[in-house]
Amino acid sequence: MPIKRAGVLTGGGDCPGLNAAVRAITRKGILDYSWEVIGIQDGYEGLIEGQARPLTSDDVANILPRGGTILGTSNKASPFDLRDGKEVETERTKKALANIDRWGLDALFCIGGDGTLTIAAKLAELWPNVIGLPKTIDNDLRCTDQTFGFDTACAFVTDALDRLHTTADAHHRVMVVEVMGRYAGWIALEGGLAGGGDVILIPEMPFSRQKVISAIEERSARGKRSSIVVVSEGAHAAGEKHVVDSVVSDSPDPIRLGGIGKHVATFIEEGTGHESRVAVLGHMQRGGSPSFYDRVLATGCGTRAAELAAEGMFGNMVALRGKDLVPVPLGEATCSLKLVTPDHRLVTTAKAVGASFGI
Ligand code: F6P
Repeated sequence: MPIKRAGVLTGGGDCPGLNAAVRAITRKGILDYSWEVIGIQDGYEGLIEGQARPLTSDDVANILPRGGTILGTSNKASPFDLRDGKEVETERTKKALANIDRWGLDALFCIGGDGTLTIAAKLAELWPNVIGLPKTIDNDLRCTDQTFGFDTACAFVTDALDRLHTTADAHHRVMVVEVMGRYAGWIALEGGLAGGGDVILIPEMPFSRQKVISAIEERSARGKRSSIVVVSEGAHAAGEKHVVDSVVSDSPDPIRLGGIGKHVATFIEEGTGHESRVAVLGHMQRGGSPSFYDRVLATGCGTRAAELAAEGMFGNMVALRGKDLVPVPLGEATCSLKLVTPDHRLVTTAKAVGASFGI
């Protein structure tokens, strides 16, 4: 059945490129398929509460370079409850399905990361016409080479490291830089590689404090009076747990990581005698204008998602494979996280140019 009306929502943590994707779905839907497009507000919150507005081609003008999302987002709302790691239906599920019916949607585009797309996969079991688009600065979604948002976040980390190198040099200090990424070390690895991190600590390679201290001391012995340590928020010492900043009890993914940077700076200073400072890059990594790469990727994902819907290829996520954008079943993309492997080419590359992983 041809699509007459399509809904778009952005869920989970925002990232650069969301607006580019919303614009692309809207423009392609209107120009090529004569759809009516509606923007659902604040992710699944708007789907449950019935908050949406029409999107015209003009409504999405000039949003390509804007960070954030014109639709708003929520990383708390879900039409399902999570019980024993599984989504179960609730009264909110009924409300969401009733709104889909009331709005007369023939397709729903869910733009999100692991959490949003897991919910999209479950929703597709009840109402099949769902298409997913992968976004997240963490780059931890399986089945796709890269998510939009990641490139911009890594560019920001690289710029921050360039700046921190100069102040670290001037004061002969160790600068510890804590970056985001949840349980995946991609931002620390690629940002650290591009920004010349001397030590890179990632969740997938639990570190030894002594090895980190030795790496700094070896640099000192070679006459290096400053060092840059890039630490992923999910990094932890071998045999120890992640450092948790807070627990957001009403969120489907309640753990917020944070604080490992301070811990690393403290043990380095105590262990080496070198003055150490910490910089936490935090949500600045999620803000700002999308990079060239993320604009192109997000626009490609948006137009390809509209094509998949027009072809009736529901229940899929758009995935980047090399230069192609291909459909993959939502369930496959969300069944586990894409993590760094210790033998990954980028890990060996970083080691080859002298970086230590503290192992
Ligand atoms: O998933 C994106 C992300 O920025 C993670 O890197 C980080 O751990 C988390 O979201 C932070 O979430 P919040 O915006 O709720 O603080």
